[in-house]
Amino acid sequence: MAKHPSLTGHSKMSRRIAKIVPTYHIEEDNFFCSDNAPDNIKEKRKAGFDKIAAHFYTTMAKSIAAGEQLKNSVSDVDFTHAYRVPFQFSQFIKDKIKFSTIVTQTRGNQIKDLDGNWTYDLSGSYGVNLFGYEFYKKCMQEGHDMVRSLGPVLGSYHPVIAENTECLKKISGLDEVSYHMSGTEAVMQAVRLARYHTGKSHLVRFCGAYHGWWDGVQPGVGNQRNNDDIYTLKEMDKDTLKVLKTRKDIACVLINPLQAMHPNINPPSDAMLIASSRQANFDKQAYINWLHELREVCTNRGIVLIMDEIFVGFRLAYKGAQEYFNVKADMVTYGKTLGGGLPIGVVCGKHHLMKRYREDRPTHICFARGTFNSHPLVMACMNRFLHAIQDELIQSQYKDIDLFWNNRVEQLNDKLAEHELPVKFVNIVSVWTILFTVPSRYNWMFQFYLRAQGLTISWIGSGRLIISHDFTDEEYAIVMEKIVSAAENMKKDGWWWQGNNMSNKSIKRQIARELITSVIKRSRL
Ligand SMILES: Cc1ncc(COP(=O)(O)O)c(C=O)c1O
Repeated sequence: MAKHPSLTGHSKMSRRIAKIVPTYHIEEDNFFCSDNAPDNIKEKRKAGFDKIAAHFYTTMAKSIAAGEQLKNSVSDVDFTHAYRVPFQFSQFIKDKIKFSTIVTQTRGNQIKDLDGNWTYDLSGSYGVNLFGYEFYKKCMQEGHDMVRSLGPVLGSYHPVIAENTECLKKISGLDEVSYHMSGTEAVMQAVRLARYHTGKSHLVRFCGAYHGWWDGVQPGVGNQRNNDDIYTLKEMDKDTLKVLKTRKDIACVLINPLQAMHPNINPPSDAMLIASSRQANFDKQAYINWLHELREVCTNRGIVLIMDEIFVGFRLAYKGAQEYFNVKADMVTYGKTLGGGLPIGVVCGKHHLMKRYREDRPTHICFARGTFNSHPLVMACMNRFLHAIQDELIQSQYKDIDLFWNNRVEQLNDKLAEHELPVKFVNIVSVWTILFTVPSRYNWMFQFYLRAQGLTISWIGSGRLIISHDFTDEEYAIVMEKIVSAAENMKKDGWWWQGNNMSNKSIKRQIARELITSVIKRSRL
């Protein structure tokens, strides 16, 4: 069986189950001792919690008020706030912990909020901020200067598109380029082209891999549509290769190389952090071997291999994941940082895969448009980005990128171990995830301790920290101190208290019991 045994590997089933999981809230009485912690620990936790909540309220009053105004009008604000922690704790957190989400200025790798607080940014702006905010401000300014006289002319192109295209062809090693407005759109187009040119119906994606929010690559939870043209298969698994070798309906395989950190597992978010069983472990050589096997099978079977580099492109190597993992794809998607600070999605591919019509069948086309595709300002900012990354310093940073970032993470892990803190970082270059080494129901609290130290992280919390490459050693030392202090405070406040025989299994069993109780209670209403 090439399906992963987890629910993540069974999209339809996971969707069905997600629909019926009932909500229940852990009320204040139980909030600080849902793991049966004794009273003294409960008190410690409560005092720590109140201190953090008060710290946010007193230092971020204006930003909090501005954010609250958006809550009922900007749907994303309400959603992200509700999903920062597991749903059992979410109501209480939503009511009690409010912090700044309204920001006005950046300086290097720091962000200023409406109240004037400066924080170090470990959110990476979803991966866009790879080289530091000054770098992108410059790209945006220069890009604006370049096309100001043209304005928003669409349909015709600013001449800068030619240079961008040549540059992207060199970077990707592919023949043609197609411009879109987001990574999601780039993936849509790559998959559509693969189906068009192979005449086959199915896409293979790997269990847990994110490729944007289009229904066509997100068959599981979050999408209401039934997808019968996707196979979600196990990554790094021989059974998958067997399926690729035998099935005749597969048009393409989509790879998100970031999954090398945690194959077959969803991107880690604190909303799912119900115990300490988050896993990550990056074995570069094993992933290279896997990609080579995949490449060989795809070549032999005429299956289009699409490397989705929207997240990792330009981060792992100048020529992206293809260079880093030493594999050649048939199509590559880029996005995020490539726009030089503006929205972008790009598909690069071989000539025969990129053509959108057939000479011999004039009405059989592969349609792709998008009003804002190749917008002059985006093209200009991209151009500045592509120029700026030729810089000697940036190019030299790529040379020993693994050594550099692995050393930094090792340094941090050594410090955490020295202080006997149950926190460990795992990385693929500058993309990090946090693992917790003792069983706990409260690891998601760490995101608030990090924030209280003046570190900005994204709404998914400790699962994904994205570090920009402009952090100097001095700044990095400050950030390390802050992370260690955050963990020390969290430990001191009792959140990692260990009960007798407490394990990740026992925590999950307890949650299952709570769920059943809540179902029974509801049925009695
Ligand atoms: C690998 C990958 N593909 C596609 C996307 C979607 O890109 P966008 O959010 O620009 O639509 C993302 C976004 O995080 C991504 O990480």
